[in-house]
Amino acid sequence: MNCIDIIEKIESEHSASKEEYAFLLKNISAGERELLRKKAQKTALNVFGNKVFIRGLIEISSVCKNDCRYCGIRKSNRNAVRYRLTKEQILECCKNGYGLGFRTFVLQGGEDGYFTDEVMTDIVSTVRKEYPDCAITLSLGERGYQSFKKLFEAGANRYLLRHETADMEHYNKLHPNEMSFERRRQSLFWLKEIGYQTGAGFMVGSPYQTFETLAEDLIFIKELNPEMCGIGPFIPHKDTEYRNYPSGSLELTLTLLSIIRLLKPDILLPATTALGTVDAKGREMGILHGANVVMPNLSPAEHRADYSLYDNKICTGDEAAECIKCLSGRMKSIGYQIVTDRGDYCPNERKQKDV
Ligand code: SAM
Ligand code: FES
Repeated sequence: MNCIDIIEKIESEHSASKEEYAFLLKNISAGERELLRKKAQKTALNVFGNKVFIRGLIEISSVCKNDCRYCGIRKSNRNAVRYRLTKEQILECCKNGYGLGFRTFVLQGGEDGYFTDEVMTDIVSTVRKEYPDCAITLSLGERGYQSFKKLFEAGANRYLLRHETADMEHYNKLHPNEMSFERRRQSLFWLKEIGYQTGAGFMVGSPYQTFETLAEDLIFIKELNPEMCGIGPFIPHKDTEYRNYPSGSLELTLTLLSIIRLLKPDILLPATTALGTVDAKGREMGILHGANVVMPNLSPAEHRADYSLYDNKICTGDEAAECIKCLSGRMKSIGYQIVTDRGDYCPNERKQKDV
């Protein structure tokens, strides 16, 4: 077994074994990383051209009933500033975003009991009615099957729910007892069954993570077959017990982005804000390693800093218009172009030859 053989196997068969993934992650050299990067970039170019999709992120609530040990807005963090947006504020963000060219709105928040099915279906159906040409993505954590279904029927199209780690022991270290590894996974299969374009994902470099648990994440991605995958480095938050842990590595995150691109050539793969936080050029590097989505922030500027998942999060002071201008320039600087399509998951259709 050597790294080049494994990279070629992932490229041609779109899979590898747990042992092979772990071996690759452990042993890949700088030269092999560059080979992997080139293959991933070429694959993304073949499917999407030099186009990068944008999603307008609206952080609707910093209130959460969960206590994920790594997360800055976990319920036991007394220093966290709690806010929730009103329906009117959310619609105002959409209006602003629509004017700036966004055709996907991502409503994300903690698991906030205020956003019951009744409240949330009202918000989703209003956005659906006012913006029939836009995709609505939800990222509101775990809800029951019926709740997911109601929101889908109200007009939501996509749901982001990172699995966080595909290793049960690892999951149980990162989360308190009340949270269930099985329920998280089950939720993802439900979302797929209901018909959402579904996004799984995980942090890179979270405490207790190993190359073996990362290999399990890759196996899980293959098994679930999600339309989207959000991965970004873990970054410590000063008010959590992991405050003194190091951030996840930029290099390892980029390697994983490239592997995932080869595993699933048409997957929607964001270059995340966390990647832009660990390195000033992180998002550009993400795109050059096979990512094809960026998610500028559309949240009201006065609440940005309060959705504080980790320390030093970028773009907390900017207006949405500035964010999009900045990202557009960044993408141009590497030969890519931001596009205003809805950017739905679209197997094969978008494939272009010899881009
Ligand atoms: N409550 C929803 C959920 O649980 O899916 C959505 C919000 S949650 C804050 C979004 C994601 O932020 C999580 O899935 C997690 O991977 C990521 N996140 C939380 N804390 C983080 C940290 N310290 N560093 C990097 N990412 C973090
Ligand atoms: Fe709920 Fe982080 S603990 S969003």
